[in-house]
Amino acid sequence: MKNANPPLSVADIRKSFLDFFESKGHTVVPSSPLVPGNDPTLMFTNSGMVQFKDVFLGTDKRPYVRAASVQACLRAGGKHNDLENVGYTARHHTFFEMLGNWSFGDYFKRESIEWGWELLTQVYGLPPEKLTATVYHEDDEAYDIWTKVIGLPPERVIRINDNKGGKYKSDNFWMMADTGPCGPCSEIFYDHGPHIPGGPPGSPDEDGDRFIEIWNHVFMQFEMHEDGSVTPLPAPCVDTGMGLERLAAILQHVHSNYEIDLFERLIQAASEATGCADLAHPSLKVIADHIRATAFLVSDGVIPSNEGRGYVQRRIIRRAIRHGYKLGQKKPFFHKLVPVLVELMGAAYPRLQAEGRRVEEVLKAEEERFFETLANGMEILDDALIAGRKELPGHVAFKLHDTYGFPLDLTQDVCRERGVTVDVAGFDEAMAAQKAAGRAAGKFKMDKAVDYSGGANVFTGYDELSSASKIIAIYQDGVPANALKDGQSGIVVLDTTPFYAESGGQVGDSGVLAGQGFEFGVQDTQKIRADVYGHHGVMTQGTLKVGDAVDARVDQTTRAATMRNHSVTHLMHKALREVLGAHVQQKGSLVDAEKTRFDFAHNAPVTPEQIIEIERRVNEEILQNAATQARVMDIDSAQKTGAMMLFGEKYGETVRVLDIGTSRELCGGTHVKATGDIGLFKITSEGGVAAGVRRIEAITGANALAYTQALESSLHSVAATLRAPTGEVQARLGQVLDQVKALEKEIAQLKGKLASSQGDDLVSQAVDVKGLKVLAARLDGADAKTLRDTLDKLKDKLKTAAIVLAAVEGDKVQLAAAVTKDSVGKVKAGELVNFVAQQVGGKGGGKPDMAMAGGTDASGLPQALQSVHGWVAERV
Ligand code: ALA
Repeated sequence: MKNANPPLSVADIRKSFLDFFESKGHTVVPSSPLVPGNDPTLMFTNSGMVQFKDVFLGTDKRPYVRAASVQACLRAGGKHNDLENVGYTARHHTFFEMLGNWSFGDYFKRESIEWGWELLTQVYGLPPEKLTATVYHEDDEAYDIWTKVIGLPPERVIRINDNKGGKYKSDNFWMMADTGPCGPCSEIFYDHGPHIPGGPPGSPDEDGDRFIEIWNHVFMQFEMHEDGSVTPLPAPCVDTGMGLERLAAILQHVHSNYEIDLFERLIQAASEATGCADLAHPSLKVIADHIRATAFLVSDGVIPSNEGRGYVQRRIIRRAIRHGYKLGQKKPFFHKLVPVLVELMGAAYPRLQAEGRRVEEVLKAEEERFFETLANGMEILDDALIAGRKELPGHVAFKLHDTYGFPLDLTQDVCRERGVTVDVAGFDEAMAAQKAAGRAAGKFKMDKAVDYSGGANVFTGYDELSSASKIIAIYQDGVPANALKDGQSGIVVLDTTPFYAESGGQVGDSGVLAGQGFEFGVQDTQKIRADVYGHHGVMTQGTLKVGDAVDARVDQTTRAATMRNHSVTHLMHKALREVLGAHVQQKGSLVDAEKTRFDFAHNAPVTPEQIIEIERRVNEEILQNAATQARVMDIDSAQKTGAMMLFGEKYGETVRVLDIGTSRELCGGTHVKATGDIGLFKITSEGGVAAGVRRIEAITGANALAYTQALESSLHSVAATLRAPTGEVQARLGQVLDQVKALEKEIAQLKGKLASSQGDDLVSQAVDVKGLKVLAARLDGADAKTLRDTLDKLKDKLKTAAIVLAAVEGDKVQLAAAVTKDSVGKVKAGELVNFVAQQVGGKGGGKPDMAMAGGTDASGLPQALQSVHGWVAERV
């Protein structure tokens, strides 16, 4: 029976879902970004509950106990990963939208299931007989609700046990990640009908397409710990998630998610961008899916890179590009889908709407980059996939990765289409070998690796710059030694040290180790092991032995300058995010006594106005003179403070949360006591270092003073040269430049006059060669225009003539030739000028009556001009 009403659109479904739960007392909350805030345990937001994780754990409170949302989710990379299946199945996506409702210690299983049933059967009108439920095998409570309260026949309520190898490893036990909130769940399935192959959940052919899971109700009861144990949550909660695309497919009476209204438009746009008219082509599905994932990622601050989230982003983009390439695209096409996507989804996702232009630019830049190597890479791959080969060698896959930018999964994707596997072990081996070579080349700057097996040293350098220490090990040329003598260099390990060893972008300390009758100059401090510091340097006096007592003194001036630059880096990082946007992420940093150098993700040059604003904000924080606070705590507590953490960074069990001004970051570096210690902050340069990565260098304290003084002094000397007060330099310079312009104009006029008067004299130098006047002469000081004007005048006067004029400036020769119309049948100006030009190291040509040329060797000119008569004589 046909439904009289038109089917609900994706937009209608979003709205009716939220309206329904609002009517049941839920607060509607917006979708959170795809990058989870301050949560290094999770790559991407993979379900609606992510933004509520801390609420489940009881460490965050909200003003509501019931919530509903439509959440943008990504399942690519990390625990939930669907990337490889996209394009080849009816229901897999990287990016999808999840409809969800939550109870935070309020209602539990009964309301959750009852409301779910009401929405599906009464609001969306799904026939009850088409629905089947599953429950976790131990969950009698949920089983009873389904059979007794809802009234589902027992054969349509299926218990699912631990079917994934271990306690709680089950399709009906849900976890966000390997640790965190989790619990048993009950899933609702829709039966697409017996004409589609597949069996009910829990049956051997459950993977078929007949029974499709649409809604998962998780009863959050536990927190999972790293050792696999669980503890109860402070209050049991509900977390549900329903795939919007799947529901839309059912409500729009189509079998595949890719046939729903939203995808129909995207696939149409992909077809236009690639010129592929076959709307059922799997590559169009891949492109339509991937434009959603990548555009949302950019709008949430992720740009393509070679690590962490940025690398997943890059892999998805490149996979989409490769599919376009397969459809015949040789130039960027993918970014062209962005406006269509914004039109389709911008209203529901305001960040996408606002960032549309930037999204397009970022994707285009990545496309341009990859298209440079894609064709060559494909050629290598085609060559390697010779007929009959069943496995692509690992070294080829690695070369494609390393040289042509083919992520491994992209290579696998191509191979899979041709029924070939990739030797992943071989790929890993090649990768490991390259990494090892890189490490060996870049490891120890001053000495060879040393072998130390003793205990840790104590680091006192946060609080003091000198300490009474004892020498516990010495290395010379990388091998253990008992002593270092005057003039010898080596590495010294102390039991206690105030010297900071290079890490987190901050350089190692320098200073001295002074003892009874000896002194060792420390030039650098590097870690031998995470908890053992090596003092690299040279003996400047006496002999030092293992066991000696030393006064270990850090160079205070250098360290103070380094700390100023490190502390200001935190303030700058924060100001950058405020001024440029939250997509700014640290990509690298180097802090020493001279400067801070900070690399960060951002796709356009930082404008002079933005630089001024960043400087203003940072200096304002400095003037507040707030005291720095460092607190050591476990990583979980640190996360809860909201401190900025870098994704992909390995943090230990305990970390240091550092408050400088209003910035809060995890950092093990040494810092000023209060922001005022930093002194003046000044940015000295800004530029690009790689696609999407900018670099800022800035200075502080005495360096900033010296910098401004140097600028001022150069301004003074400019003023003195211009004979103007410094305040009037600008106006004065303007006057001078105007004067220069006027003089240049005057000179040009004079040159012209001079040349044309010379031109008059030249008439007499013309030689008659069989009735043709031949003239080859120099016209110094003439520019191209004067040469041409003079030629015209000479032609008028000589009537029947072939003329070459040359102007010399340094070694450079400018040539012009003209032949009067009546003689072009015999002599061609182009040939004539070329004949002369060749003798002065040049080449030229032009029309038969007028031609220009240049040369670089003026020494040949007299001879060249002389030879003209003979050359013409041969032709007339
Ligand atoms: N968080 C649950 C899921 O993603 C609802 O299935």
